Amino acid sequence: MRILIVGATGLLGKEIVRLLSSEHEVIGASRNGPDQSVDLADKASIVSMYQQLGTVDAVICAAGAAKFAPLESLTDEDFAFSLANKLMGQVNLVRCSVGHIAQGGSLTLTSGILSLHPVTGSAVVGIVNAGVEAFVRSAALELHGKARVNVVSPGWVSETLAAMGQAYSAGTPAAVVAQAYKRGLVEDITGQVIPVK
Ligand SMILES: NC(=O)c1ccc[n+]([C@@H]2O[C@H](COP(=O)([O-])OP(=O)(O)OC[C@H]3O[C@@H](n4cnc5c(N)ncnc54)[C@H](OP(=O)(O)O)[C@@H]3O)[C@@H](O)[C@H]2O)c1
Repeated sequence: MRILIVGATGLLGKEIVRLLSSEHEVIGASRNGPDQSVDLADKASIVSMYQQLGTVDAVICAAGAAKFAPLESLTDEDFAFSLANKLMGQVNLVRCSVGHIAQGGSLTLTSGILSLHPVTGSAVVGIVNAGVEAFVRSAALELHGKARVNVVSPGWVSETLAAMGQAYSAGTPAAVVAQAYKRGLVEDITGQVIPVK
């Protein structure tokens, strides 16, 4: 398969590339490449990317930022940034894929545990993650028979916890999280929030 991976240079993206690149043609995308430049927060950049790529069999997105900060410190700009980036960035990635994804292809997005299990500082991240999941359920209905759409909801990733000075063992290693994206790719599922096991 020809697979576009947005966020290919990130913690999760690198493991997804590692997992899939021996069996598939992987196109790594992010703001700085490596194979394709795209800024999720800029719809024109997504349109331009698909024009350059033509048709792909699958799209995986392990990118998208949202502001993590206590509610009282969040600014209007923080809300606008987060909604435009991780939420609308992924929504637009799906919208713009129409006509560029092969019949029966798959799109796999990323949300996160904070939609269901909030902590102090997760107000915007929670909105964004829940919004991505709700969008996926609706988009899957409307794209039924054309493309499958799912979302992986990671909990805390071990490497991220370790970088924050917390216990690696309290999270899930990125290489294990990557397996959930493979489920979105190969299993005949759509409209699903794929848990990380
Ligand atoms: N790590 C965790 O514990 C965890 C837990 C739950 C959910 N998640 C979610 O999983 C996703 C990936 O997390 P991660 O830890 O792997 O992140 P990461 O290491 O910071 O990597 C982010 C990747 O996305 C790219 N990127 C950033 N902004 C972009 C934009 N506007 N347009 C296109 N590409 C962009 C980055 O490359 P460039 O800088 O070149 O653009 C990079 O490849 C995020 O949505 C995050 O919220 C992570």
